[in-house]
Amino acid sequence: MYKLRKILSEIDGKGYGGYKRLKGTHTFKNFTLEITHVQPDPYAPPSRMMIKIPLNHTGFPRELYSNPSRKKGFVDYLTRLFGKENKNPYIRPARCGQEILLRSSVGLSGGVLSFRFRVELPAAGRRILGKEAERVFFRDLPVLVEKVFFYRNVPQDELKRHVELCEDQDFLREKLREEGWVAFVGNGAVLPRRSGIDVKPMENAVRFISPPSMRVSFKLPSGRDVEGMGIREGITIICGGGFHGKSTLLEAIELGVYNHIEGDGREWVITREDAVKIRAEDGRYIEKVDISPFISNLPLGKDTRRFSTPDASGSTSQAANIMEALELGSGLLLIDEDTTATNLMIRDRRMQHVVGKEKEPITPFIDRIRELWERFNVSVIMITGGLGDYFEVADRVIAMEEYVPHEITEKAREVVKNYPSGRKVEVPEPFKMPEGRKIKKESVNPVKGKKIKIDAKGKETLVFGREVIDLSCIEQVVDVGQVKAIGDIIYYAVKKYSGLPLKEMLERAIEDTVKEEFQNLRYPDSCNYSLPRIYEVGAALNRLRTLKVI
Ligand SMILES: Nc1ncnc2c1ncn2[C@@H]1O[C@H](COP(=O)(O)OP(=O)(O)OP(=O)(O)O)[C@@H](O)[C@H]1O
Ligand SMILES: [Mg+2]
Repeated sequence: MYKLRKILSEIDGKGYGGYKRLKGTHTFKNFTLEITHVQPDPYAPPSRMMIKIPLNHTGFPRELYSNPSRKKGFVDYLTRLFGKENKNPYIRPARCGQEILLRSSVGLSGGVLSFRFRVELPAAGRRILGKEAERVFFRDLPVLVEKVFFYRNVPQDELKRHVELCEDQDFLREKLREEGWVAFVGNGAVLPRRSGIDVKPMENAVRFISPPSMRVSFKLPSGRDVEGMGIREGITIICGGGFHGKSTLLEAIELGVYNHIEGDGREWVITREDAVKIRAEDGRYIEKVDISPFISNLPLGKDTRRFSTPDASGSTSQAANIMEALELGSGLLLIDEDTTATNLMIRDRRMQHVVGKEKEPITPFIDRIRELWERFNVSVIMITGGLGDYFEVADRVIAMEEYVPHEITEKAREVVKNYPSGRKVEVPEPFKMPEGRKIKKESVNPVKGKKIKIDAKGKETLVFGREVIDLSCIEQVVDVGQVKAIGDIIYYAVKKYSGLPLKEMLERAIEDTVKEEFQNLRYPDSCNYSLPRIYEVGAALNRLRTLKVI
């Protein structure tokens, strides 16, 4: 501590490089400060550092982090509290959104609480502002540490609620799987957001209420009971007029694979963890994906069992998205007609007459959907406004009317009886699940110039070596920290497990990341990683334009 104070007074007013001397460990009364990386200039990304306190000094009861769900809630809470209590503009904590995620900001291993954060070391031009830096380290940081990392000072009820909420949500997600549900939407949930660019809940929204026939309730570990709409495994079709809230419901279900903070409105929208949003994505890169169950006999004899293209069409991109999700183990596909390739979804009776099957390479999804469910246990929740033919293949049908869902399965069955679509089912061969592809290690190269370059540019773009991966159609990425982790998990996975099929390779890498609290990634001192799912890590790798599989 004295050393730090002394250095700061010595370098005050000098050139920015003087800050280099701060690197190292500094002992404070209640904690140790480790400065691991000092920014080379005032405009570089902020300096990385870490606070360490023996866990038994902090006073946090063990039950707050005694299982993986609670630990996730605990880590997430401390990160948020630090951000909320921080008043110093130079201190840069990790940012958190609406989702409760496992984050690299907090470590709990070895009996020590470590908290990683960043500080933009103060400067005027390129001169060190030693007095400002002194305020960061000796006035504001110790107060902040005292407020956030000592149980006696934190809002204990709020912390407990956050941890229990996280545990309840994970429990419910697990319960859904055990009992054969794929999604749950709690009564009273607020699904719409304030605007297309604001993820806070809409004020005065119509609250969700389950149709009576789909109502189900669960008892949760905290003692809380939740009641709402349960969606069973199988094929669920959600229809309804334009602007009646269909996409809003599906979007909430998409993000129900994550837990949400209190007050979000979607705390009790819980979806099975293997749900993947499927859409068309023209222009994407595809590397040797077997899309033959949906598309065969392409013009010019192009092989669709190992289909590659730098520029996919609507139908081929959506087919690849489906097959890649299945390859990674998804058992629940979420589809919104708004963003699909129509010809992959349906060939209606008239089209079947005009273009014979022998001239049409596509086997539409409607002819595969029952097979996927009955033979492979893959469920689908699909929104449709226009494709009434799907009533024929549905296990249940929900209609959204002025933001209120109604179950209309019986009515839909009648309609199917009274107005037959007259379509023929056209399935050339039984559906085959994709085989696990293995990647060529050297095709995933993060080097640019002489350095490794992996960097998230917002939620939608991942820079990987000389390539830029477009994630704008990967709708279940919720946090830029996930994108950072995706890049570095890919790098780690390929280095360590590239001999394994894609799914196993990524599973292992993610397991290690959780177990090692992100310390296996490129920047063990980063506060900015948050945990992605395997589906998003895989999606990024599958879109890397240099990727080659064996
Ligand atoms: N429960 C709700 N209460 C109030 N407004 C809502 C609710 N749900 C959705 N909205 C708003 O209604 C609008 C339309 O919703 P959404 O996009 O979900 O409709 P849609 O049924 O998918 O329409 P389309 O068929 O045109 O795609 C959006 O602006 C959304 O924010
Ligand atoms: Mg819509």
